[in-house]
Amino acid sequence: MRRRAFATAALLALLLLAGCGPGDVGESKVLVEGDPASGRRIIARLDCGACHAIPGVRPSRGRVGPSLEGFGRRGYIAGQFPNRPPVLVRWVSAAPEMDPRTAMPGFALTEREARDIASYLYTLR
Ligand code: HEC
Repeated sequence: MRRRAFATAALLALLLLAGCGPGDVGESKVLVEGDPASGRRIIARLDCGACHAIPGVRPSRGRVGPSLEGFGRRGYIAGQFPNRPPVLVRWVSAAPEMDPRTAMPGFALTEREARDIASYLYTLR
């Protein structure tokens, strides 16, 4: 009985590992549970495009930050944090808390707004 429990736990751990490596964000949209259309509007309203090129958002020709084209396929956020939904939700609102030296500013967002933004960014593939 105990052995079987162990085997089940090991299998679960394996499945988790297999499904969550950096760069594997195929199901992120679902995991983020945000509304991409709303996220796109918030991105436009906050003018993230002043610093980023963002497909689908106009105007967005900023060159201060990296282009967000293909962001949904990127393995890391800012080259150092694994690109996973909860990490991205935090990054879009509180980047300076995660990396005090980053030039990306913080934004006063509700959890919901941050999720919507993240879900839009994951549509960029
Ligand atoms: C003042 C300029 C500026 C604004 C405004 C800005 N960003 Fe950024 N952003 C940056 C910079 C610079 C980086 C690179 C950070 C680093 O490498 O430390 C960055 C990084 C990012 C990344 C990670 C990109 C990658 O390829 O790893 C995402 C995602 C992002 N920003 C989203 C947003 C969103 C969404 C908004 C609007 C809510 C926004 N940014 C507003 C400057 C900005």
